[in-house]
Amino acid sequence: MGKAIIQLAGIKIYRNRRPVLDIDNMTVTAGEMVALAGANGAGKSTLLQVINMLLPYQQGTLTLFGQDAAKYGRENARFYSAMMFQETLLVRGTVYDNVALPLKFRGCPDSQIAEKVTAALATFRCQHLARRQANQLSGGEAQRVGLARAIVYQPQLLLLDEPFAALDAASRTAILSDLRQVAMQNKLTVLLVSHNFNDVLYFAERVVVLEGGRIVQDECPEAVLRRPATQAVANLVDMDNILPCQVECSGSSVMIRLPGGIEFSKNAPAPARPSACCLPGDAIYILNQSPMRECRPFITLNGTISAITPGIGAYKVSIKSSCLALTLRAPREQTSGLSLGDNIEVGFNPDEIQLV
Ligand SMILES: Nc1ncnc2c1ncn2[C@@H]1O[C@H](COP(=O)(O)OP(=O)(O)OP(=O)(O)O)[C@@H](O)[C@H]1O
Ligand SMILES: [Mg+2]
Repeated sequence: MGKAIIQLAGIKIYRNRRPVLDIDNMTVTAGEMVALAGANGAGKSTLLQVINMLLPYQQGTLTLFGQDAAKYGRENARFYSAMMFQETLLVRGTVYDNVALPLKFRGCPDSQIAEKVTAALATFRCQHLARRQANQLSGGEAQRVGLARAIVYQPQLLLLDEPFAALDAASRTAILSDLRQVAMQNKLTVLLVSHNFNDVLYFAERVVVLEGGRIVQDECPEAVLRRPATQAVANLVDMDNILPCQVECSGSSVMIRLPGGIEFSKNAPAPARPSACCLPGDAIYILNQSPMRECRPFITLNGTISAITPGIGAYKVSIKSSCLALTLRAPREQTSGLSLGDNIEVGFNPDEIQLV
């Protein structure tokens, strides 16, 4: 395991006497690319502000770069980190002036400034903008310049609070891809707040999910996507099926009852008071055409197709039975023979179910 860059222990923040952040333990090591996810108001920006020492904490310890941040001091901590917000705060003057500014603040010799600014602009493909006025850039250009300015003094830690939220999907993917490459090449530690789970999947190797100021899940993106820890996380990742259910635990096995008399057991620990089961759409198979038919026993049910939604990679098919609505995802060739109103038999393996 690498060197710890950020360590929080027992950190609590109250706002208007209301607890808004309560982190028992969280460690980010050198070179990690971590996404911070959570619904509006979950505490993501608050956490980033604590780490950047913009917000004093009432309890607990924050350790940055191996030293107690309270003693180490705000200015020193900031020396090694950079933060970016949704709105890039560029100052008056040219793009070049903006990117040179943090170097001047840090007392970089004039003879080195031009080379460093040019290299930082080139890293984010915006060297052609150097002579432009910073207030005349498009949103995407401004964010690229903001990133160049953030990395020009080679910080060890980059804190990003949804800086790409306003960009179109293609621009976001391109900028995230450049950022990922820069971070990997320079062993830069990055904490990226994002609402968009596609961005998280694209960028991060670890996701910390906040709910009501607490960490509810801290895993790789795929685990969060397929096995969300709570219903709120399931909503966040846009889980295809969140089905109300009743659960009875006996030892290590649980009996799950879905509406319509569908019941099955599953060997897995259940959370404290589960009330729903999550099932990704690609874990539901159309039985009369899927090779998975051989893999029974499946839980099967019949239903009528109520919607077919095209998509790149997979089509979504909504099925209604008397008591249950399910959404499955299947490749286009598997859905091309289907029509609205068709009755089909579908099945799923109970092991794919995640209780929340
Ligand atoms: N300046 C403030 N004064 C009082 N309460 C605040 C302040 N800023 C944030 N809060 C509250 O703290 C909680 C956490 O807010 P925070 O901004 O960290 O959420 P967030 O996860 O970043 O949300 P979003 O996705 O909307 O940006 C919310 O309940 C919010 O209302
Ligand atoms: Mg926020």
